[in-house]
Amino acid sequence: MAIDAAAALQNVTLVGQNKTAVVVGGTLGIGGGVARLLAKLGCSRIIILGRNETRGKAMLEVMKNLAPKDSKIVVEFVKGDLSDKKGMRDAATLIQETAGDAGINFLVMTQNGTPAGLDTKYNTEGHDTAFAIQGVSRFALAYLLTTHGGLAPNAIVMSIANQGQSMDDLEIEDLSLKKRIAAGPSATSIFMLQSKRDSTVLDSSFEELNLHFPQYRYVSIWPGLVKTEEFNLSLVPGFLKFGMWLGLKLIGTTPDGYASLPVYILASPDAERTHGSSNYFDRLLNPAPLGKWAQDPTNRQALWGKLKEIIGET
Ligand SMILES: NC(=O)c1ccc[n+]([C@@H]2O[C@H](COP(=O)([O-])OP(=O)(O)OC[C@H]3O[C@@H](n4cnc5c(N)ncnc54)[C@H](OP(=O)(O)O)[C@@H]3O)[C@@H](O)[C@H]2O)c1
Repeated sequence: MAIDAAAALQNVTLVGQNKTAVVVGGTLGIGGGVARLLAKLGCSRIIILGRNETRGKAMLEVMKNLAPKDSKIVVEFVKGDLSDKKGMRDAATLIQETAGDAGINFLVMTQNGTPAGLDTKYNTEGHDTAFAIQGVSRFALAYLLTTHGGLAPNAIVMSIANQGQSMDDLEIEDLSLKKRIAAGPSATSIFMLQSKRDSTVLDSSFEELNLHFPQYRYVSIWPGLVKTEEFNLSLVPGFLKFGMWLGLKLIGTTPDGYASLPVYILASPDAERTHGSSNYFDRLLNPAPLGKWAQDPTNRQALWGKLKEIIGET
């Protein structure tokens, strides 16, 4: 049964718990909503990462103003660009240094790499840039901070993005879908494939993270449709534009309206009882299965090796 997360959080406080949260993509959109709610609940330390320093610094002031007077909140902005290997590795190092020895309790990843369809750009390593941000960088930060000692005991690592879709014929050696693009697909079909590819890679890597590092929890949530500050329907091709427009009318919410769902998993003492053994969720926090491709351990292990190679961790 869907949980009323906002109501459940009414009686929750993080004041005095010495929690450190990192919100990647916390300068805007869903990440901004999560960062504001964590501040409101009294999370003692919140680090946000993004490229835009002006927006990041403004968000720090907003968080300080929202924090309860007795929370002694510390907020920090880390500048980083997650669109290539160097950016991902530098960001992981900076986040870890900023968080310090106590480590990170909540690592929430909301960095946006919307599929670019036929306008796909490639990063310095020749990978689809949007995919690097949306898929590879989530694996990179989770893996590097886990294996380099950046997480606190029992940390929760959370991705808010596509979950549960499957690109059934995903090829490990064509993660950027260059062969598909060269075959001349329509803008709509390549956009949909890229979206399924992102979900397939995230499902697979999060399941492998859970299997490799059971001392932590790796959670993936699909947010449904959230009308963020920069939500831009014109980037969506073909009939999908109408579908999304209608979806926003019917089930759309705002970043602050949405934030209570992921924050419930992070901060509510009841979350263990209500959602304890699930790591993958739909937009209402109902447990959701992995996509078909990601359910196959052989696929996942091959992808795991490839992603480690891409981020320079062979
Ligand atoms: N909104 C929705 O309805 C919806 C639906 C399904 C899935 N999602 C997924 O949910 C996640 C959050 O979406 P959103 O709508 O909140 O996105 P958003 O409003 O566009 O915010 C994206 C955040 O990511 C940061 N970011 C973008 N590129 C970056 C880069 N190269 N390096 C570092 N940070 C970067 C931005 O900060 P700077 O600009 O400061 O870099 C910003 O803080 C995304 O993965 C999105 O695909 C969203």
